[in-house]
Amino acid sequence: MLTIHFLIAAGIFFWFRFLWNRRCLYKLMFQLPGPMGLPLLGIAIEYTINKRKMSLRAQYMDKYGSTIFSWLGPVPILVTRDPTILKDILTSSDCLNKSLHMVNGMGTCIGFGLVTLREPKWDIRRKQLNPTFKHGVLLSFMPVFNDESKTLVSLLDTFVGQGEKDVLPDIHRWSFRTAMKTTMGSDIQEDQTFKDDKLMESYQTIIGLITVNVIFPLVQNKFIAKLCGYEKKRLKNALVINKPVENIIDKKLKCTEENSTSSISNTLINRAIDLFRSGDLSYEEVKSECSNMVLAAFETTGLTVWHTMILLAMFPDYQDMAFEELKKAFPTNGDFEVTEEDLQNLEYLDRVLNETLRLIPPIPIAPRETIRDVPLSNGVVIPKDVVIGIDIFSTHRNPDFWGSEAEKFNPDNFLPENILERHPYAFIPFSRGKRNCIGWKYALMSVKLTLAKILRNYKIGTSFRYEDLVFVDNTAMKLAQSPKLHFQRRT
Ligand code: HEM
Repeated sequence: MLTIHFLIAAGIFFWFRFLWNRRCLYKLMFQLPGPMGLPLLGIAIEYTINKRKMSLRAQYMDKYGSTIFSWLGPVPILVTRDPTILKDILTSSDCLNKSLHMVNGMGTCIGFGLVTLREPKWDIRRKQLNPTFKHGVLLSFMPVFNDESKTLVSLLDTFVGQGEKDVLPDIHRWSFRTAMKTTMGSDIQEDQTFKDDKLMESYQTIIGLITVNVIFPLVQNKFIAKLCGYEKKRLKNALVINKPVENIIDKKLKCTEENSTSSISNTLINRAIDLFRSGDLSYEEVKSECSNMVLAAFETTGLTVWHTMILLAMFPDYQDMAFEELKKAFPTNGDFEVTEEDLQNLEYLDRVLNETLRLIPPIPIAPRETIRDVPLSNGVVIPKDVVIGIDIFSTHRNPDFWGSEAEKFNPDNFLPENILERHPYAFIPFSRGKRNCIGWKYALMSVKLTLAKILRNYKIGTSFRYEDLVFVDNTAMKLAQSPKLHFQRRT
């Protein structure tokens, strides 16, 4: 009897201690209201029932405010679309870590590299890799960008007069080849898994699995993952995507140091191998770094080109304006060389691209985590170990900063005078602060150049309506239904 009383008393004691330790979170719930969801599951079920539609987050924010507090499973999460709060977070040295669930979900699939590393390792690695994104290195990629976009344009020619086609798989193949050539210095064309599309399918499966890991943190438990069949899926697909990267590294490592210098000496692979030879990176770290970079580069640039094509197909007047600018810059259709100077002069295309990145950002939400209490400018303190959702998608549509027509496609949002008036953190497709996208300049060069060639050569159309686009939360942007496109040659 005494033992039972003792156990009950101990239980009550630990329960109160648990609640006491989380008192800051309960205080936060009152300061920043949000949907609470179910015990242990939080809003995970509601989210799943709603098919992870991003509009659900907008509904929460319209109801509770631009910064909300909620629970994903047992994990406390603060989500914001408020540029002032975003500035507090993105400039804080205590919010540099990605959330542990995202890190583990991604790291177990493609290794722990720059995308997933946490402090203090991240800071060292970022400094080690920054030289691979210097202007000179990016300029040395221009021949690759020109060559690969030429291949894509030729492929699109086969779609002319063929009715509406799903072009996303071909665009992903273009962005993947480009990413492999620039970051790994290798052509993937002859790899069997690339040829038979297994590689690209495995990447999409892995991106889906990373998302599940973030939304349902319980799935990271090995036993639960095995029970759900996720573990088998992860191992199988991770093997497929890591193999080509591993083969290239092994081949490069076999070359002597003198023979290994390629025409582009500071590419990611060369830098990683130098760091390996000087003892600063292990073999595993070289592999992870390369896999992280390839995924970060190809998925986002591919999606951006595709989203721009979709939006311009839906808004032909804006497409014609982009075409007029391109026709002036490149009077003859077919293949032409695009230089850095050409890119700088294409101002209208810039506006179109920015408007696309605003309405359909390839990374819709970036999960961070506090390592200490973080005071915000509105007086609220985010406690240590809280996950923060940098809601890029909702920030870009926040009516308080983009006006009542925030949902409308309008490249004039990026006229210089309109940019000047806007909060600098209202547009953050590449995030901002110390841990922004390391590849943002690479991305803009590659995407703009490719769009210039596509839009100069083809008039793109679609029967899909802008109002029918449904955005689904994923590690990278997902559309519930892929609009199909048709092509007509331009002269
Ligand atoms: C339009 C294309 C791109 C978009 C919209 C984009 C967006 C982003 C965003 C939002 C982040 C921050 C995520 C976070 O804070 O959690 C990020 C990080 C990153 N991006 Fe990009 N990205 C693009 C292209 C690229 C390219 C081309 C590369 C490489 C060649 C790249 C490499 C990376 C890496 C390595 C990180 C992690 C940086 C770090 O944590 O230090 N990205 N990107």
